[in-house]
Amino acid sequence: MLADTDPEPAASAAPSPVAIRRAVADDLAAVIALDERVTGIGKPDYWRDIFERYSHRRPDERFFLVAETVPSDASEGFLGFAVGEVRAWEFGSEPCGWVFAISVSPETRLRGVGKSLFHAMAAQFRDAGITVMRTMVARDNPLHMAFFRSEGMSGGPYLQLEMDLTDDLDGPE
Ligand SMILES: CC(C)(COP(=O)(O)OP(=O)(O)OC[C@H]1O[C@@H](n2cnc3c(N)ncnc32)[C@H](O)[C@@H]1OP(=O)(O)O)[C@@H](O)C(=O)NCCC(=O)NCCS
Repeated sequence: MLADTDPEPAASAAPSPVAIRRAVADDLAAVIALDERVTGIGKPDYWRDIFERYSHRRPDERFFLVAETVPSDASEGFLGFAVGEVRAWEFGSEPCGWVFAISVSPETRLRGVGKSLFHAMAAQFRDAGITVMRTMVARDNPLHMAFFRSEGMSGGPYLQLEMDLTDDLDGPE
C-alpha cells in the first residue's frame, strides 16, 4: 500500500456509469501514469512485471482490474485500477483474497469508482470460492483506513511484525 501525495480532491457532482473489466496491455501506460501521479514515484518496471504476472497468468486466482467510463471512449476513459490474488497457506492461513493495490484518478474520486473496483474484486474472490478478503494499510494513512473500513473491512487475526536490519545486532557469528 502506497502513500497518496496528491491533494485531497473535491467530490464531483456528476457521477457517470463505471465499467470494470480485466486489464489489457493498452491500459499499462495509464496505470503507470496514475500510480506515479498518486505516489510521486515512477515505477514502470514494477508495473510491467505486475501486469505480466496478474493480467493473464492463473486468471482464476489473479485479478488485474480496470475501471473505465461507459462508454469506454468517453472523454474520461480510464478511471482507476485494482490488483489482487488468492493466496493460500502463507502464515498458516486458509486460502484468502488479498487486494494489494487500488487507485482511482484524483479527478474522479468520491464518486464510487473505488467502491466499484473493491466490489468487483470481492466478486472475483467469491467466484474463486474464497470467503475472506484482506489488505494492509499504513497506520498513518487515514484515507486508506476510511476507504477500506467504509467497504466493510475491519481488523483481522494477524499482526504484522518487522525489524530494522540496519541495527547493530548481536546475532550468531
Ligand atoms: C482510496 C481510493 C481508492 C478511494 O477511491 P474513491 O473512488 O474515491 O472511493 P469511493 O468514492 O468509491 O468511496 C468509497 C467509500 O470510501 C470512502 N472514502 C473515499 N475517500 C474518502 C476520503 N477521502 N475520506 C473519507 N472517506 C472516504 C467514501 O466515503 C465511501 O464510503 P461510503 O461507501 O460509506 O459512502 C482513492 O482515494 C485513491 O485512489 N487514493 C489514492 C491511492 C490509494 O491511496 N489507494 C489505497 C491503497 S493502495
